[in-house]
This record gives sequence, C-alpha cells and structure tokens, in this order.
Amino acid sequence: MNAYLIGIDVGTSGVKSELYTADGICIASRTVEYPMYQPQNGWAESSCEDWWRAVTESLQVIFAALPEDGTVAGIGLSGQMHSLVLLDADYRPLRNAILWCDTRSEAECRIIEDTVGKETLLRITANAALPGFTLSKILWVKHHEPQVFSKIAHILLPKDYIRFRLTGVLATEYSDAAGTQLLDLQERKWSQELTDAFGIDLAWFPTLYDSAEVTGTLTHAAAQATGLPEGTPVVGGAADNAAAAVGTGCIRRGESYLTIGTSGVLFTHTGEAVTDPSARCHTFCSAVKGEYYMMGVTQAAGLSLQWLSRQLFPQLRTEALEAGENIYAYLDRLAAASPLGANRLLYLPYLMGERTPYLDGELRGMLFGLSAIHTQADIIRAVLEGVAFSQRNCLSVLRENGLEPTDIRICGGGAKSPIWRQIFADVLGKSLSYSPKDAGGAVSGVAILAGVGTGIYADVYKGCAAFARPLSIQENDFTRSASYEKLYSIFHALYGQIADLSHRLFHESIDIF
Ligand code: XUL
Repeated sequence: MNAYLIGIDVGTSGVKSELYTADGICIASRTVEYPMYQPQNGWAESSCEDWWRAVTESLQVIFAALPEDGTVAGIGLSGQMHSLVLLDADYRPLRNAILWCDTRSEAECRIIEDTVGKETLLRITANAALPGFTLSKILWVKHHEPQVFSKIAHILLPKDYIRFRLTGVLATEYSDAAGTQLLDLQERKWSQELTDAFGIDLAWFPTLYDSAEVTGTLTHAAAQATGLPEGTPVVGGAADNAAAAVGTGCIRRGESYLTIGTSGVLFTHTGEAVTDPSARCHTFCSAVKGEYYMMGVTQAAGLSLQWLSRQLFPQLRTEALEAGENIYAYLDRLAAASPLGANRLLYLPYLMGERTPYLDGELRGMLFGLSAIHTQADIIRAVLEGVAFSQRNCLSVLRENGLEPTDIRICGGGAKSPIWRQIFADVLGKSLSYSPKDAGGAVSGVAILAGVGTGIYADVYKGCAAFARPLSIQENDFTRSASYEKLYSIFHALYGQIADLSHRLFHESIDIF
C-alpha cells in the first residue's frame, strides 16, 4: 500500500483539507466556508459546529480521491491561533468561539499588565497583553459572562477542538499553546504563576505535545462522520503560522515567509527565542522541536479585500460571477487600471485594530486622500497597497531586532495575485519567491508533520525536502520601491496623527436615533 498524508487547516473563513502523496504532490483539495459573526464593532465569533461540519464535508471529498492501493498514514491539524473555545464538563461548547481578530478585551489587557506587570509577562510569555491573545478573552468572559465562566471545564484552540472531535483526546502542541499567553515559553509548560494570578484553573488546559508527536487516533464515530478508517493517527500539528513555516520550508534561522490570508504575517525563524523589548512583534514556539520564531501581524489583510468586495462594491461579485471569473482575479484586473500610489490615495487597514507595530485593538481604518477623481480601481489598489505598507511596518520591526529576512517566500491566498505579489515586492524593496503551482502554506506544513510523526520522514528537514517544489521569483523594481518609500513615510506618520481621534470615535457616547 502507498502511504498518503492529510493536512487540515481550521481557518477564519473556512476549513481546507488536502490529501498528499509522500513525495508532496497534492492529489485532492477541498475548502468549505462558514460565516464569521460580528455582533458588535470589533467582535468576531465562529460556531464550533460550523468548523466540524466543514471538516467532515471536506474530509469526505478528499478521501474519495484516495487511490485503491493507498492508505492514509496520518493526519496533521493546523488552525487559526489564539481563538477561544470553551467546553463544559460534558465537552459541549459553552458559547461561540471568540476569534483571534476580536478586539473586545482591550480593558482586560490593561488588567493583565497591572496585575502581573509587563516585565513578568514578557519574561514568561515573551509577548505583551493583546486582545488578540487567548488570556484576555478568557478574562473578558470572566468579567462579562460569569454564568459561562462558572461552567468552564476545558479550554481549547480551534484545531484542538477538531482534534477532540476526531480522536476524543484533549491535547494541543507548543506552537498553538504559545499563542494563549498562558504558556511559559522557555519552560514549555502551562504557567501556574499566570493561571493563579487570574483565577484560571490549570486543569482546564489540554496536554502538551510536540508538533510531530501522535496525539491520538480516529474514533469509530469520527470514522463514520468523515469516511476515513478508524485508528488513523493524528499528530500534534501546529498553529497556522508555525505550520505555514513548515509548508514553505522556513525552518532554519533567517528563513522567512510572508503569508496573506485573512491576516497578513511576516514570519522569520529565529531558532533561539528573540523578544522585541516593546513586544511589537510576537515571539512563539516553532513547529521545529525546541525552537522559536518571530512574526509581525497585520490584522486585516485578506479581510480588507473581502470587506471591500462584500460591503463597498458588492456588485463586483455579481459582475465577476457573470463573467465566470473568480472575484479576486476580477478585483486584480480592476486594480491594474490604477497607477502606483492609487492616484495619491492611502488605505489604513485597521478594520479590526492592529497588532504590529501598534498593539492597538481600538484603532480603526481609513481611506486618506479621497478625491472626486478616485475610481473603484483606485480604491481597490489603495487597499492592496495599504496592506503591503502595513507589512512594511512589520519588516522595520524585525530589522530593529537585528533580523533581516533573506529570501522571503510569499504564500497564502494573496500570493496567487500577480499584482499584489508585485506590490509586496516593491513596497518591501525585496524580491520574493513563490510557488507558481500552489499557494503552499499551513495545510502542506501539517501534512509534513503527520509524515514525520508516523515515520515516513526521519525528521522535519527530510519532510520539507520531500515537499519542496521549484520556485519562481517576483523581482522588485528599484524605481517603484523608491516611490513607495515616499508614500510609506506618509502611511507610517498617519498613525501618530489619528490614534487619539480613532480611540475617541470608538469610545465617545453617542445617542443613536
Ligand atoms: C497570528 C494571528 C493570525 C491567525 C490567523 O497571531 O492571530 O495570523 O493565526 O489565522
């Protein structure tokens, strides 16, 4: 029998499952989407049942493509980081999951820092308190939904909830645990000091594994729901960004990638833990055993484009459908009609606050420089450029920490767009490599980890080598990069000008008639 590997990514807008040969060829891929609920400004939630439905549906489809002489050697799980899943004593979700991009817990972040102090937080978790991270979300539930808090028996991350449904085991691994802000990053264990400080029960958290360790096998019920054989091993897997590092082969110091999904991430593998003294970039555990990485995050990358096409220009979706074109390819074509700088229009992508470099959940977005001459094309281009400027901020912070990404690989949905790739290369002032065939990333990363955990590859380096594909290069243009540096300096200066006003707008008590 030939061995095949499965990767599953529980994303913000959908689940993607893929079936791979042991030499890294993807033979089936299925994405099943679900809604992200936004009951209030800055809130973002998902239904755990939606995730499970999407997992079973996508697994049924890809498993049907398994050749007769094939067997699934193992499954790897990847998922959006930080999002909070609360279960009661009967393992039932107590409420919708509160997602990574939800910024309701800004006040809890101040409480966290006042209670234990910034230094202690940095020493234990290597990061500042952020509304994006799980700890502040748990405290928000404690303060605002005490009836829910009193019933908590288990706390999981999205991919680990799916692991529980697949295997019946409560487990996680270090790369995702690091994003909860409750893991002692150096000791690699849940922090008793932090859970005690916040009245959280350490017993609520699952067992910790390495990314390539087998954590359990498919139960009879999960086998019936997915079509896969009972007993199929499931490895630890990794947080989506740590998984994408494996999928893109960024597993040695300096190897870096830029991924454009709902969020945008500039990631560099550091080996040892490197911490930004102001915590503007995050430091987390890598999927490579015992190692670390640093990354900068744009909260609304693909999300900005999705918002634009759903809320601002919904008719473009209809036009794209009528033309038989994918909406994002259609937006690309329109954006190409606008020149560099979008006719002097800047977009600030702070739809869900921002992380790098501002650590500001209450900041909100903006189109700056709007004029009556601006067209749809200009606005679309400004959105593409604004996200790239935000990633330029991430590059600056990495540089300030002595990290100069050498060869940056671009991946994720946004990497499929030739115009966006060019804009990223020009704005970052660096050539980018990309895989012309597939977007690469988290799903292939956890399929590799499944191969390592089930003995198909001797280690993660051998697994990455088996999955490596020829790359193309998106060259940056020096003249365009120089022009973008001028626009970037205006983009960069805008934060200082609007931050206070943005907070006032967010908090001002306004009577609504
Ligand atoms: C990283 C983060 C996002 C999510 C997206 O800190 O919050 O990149 O992981 O899925």
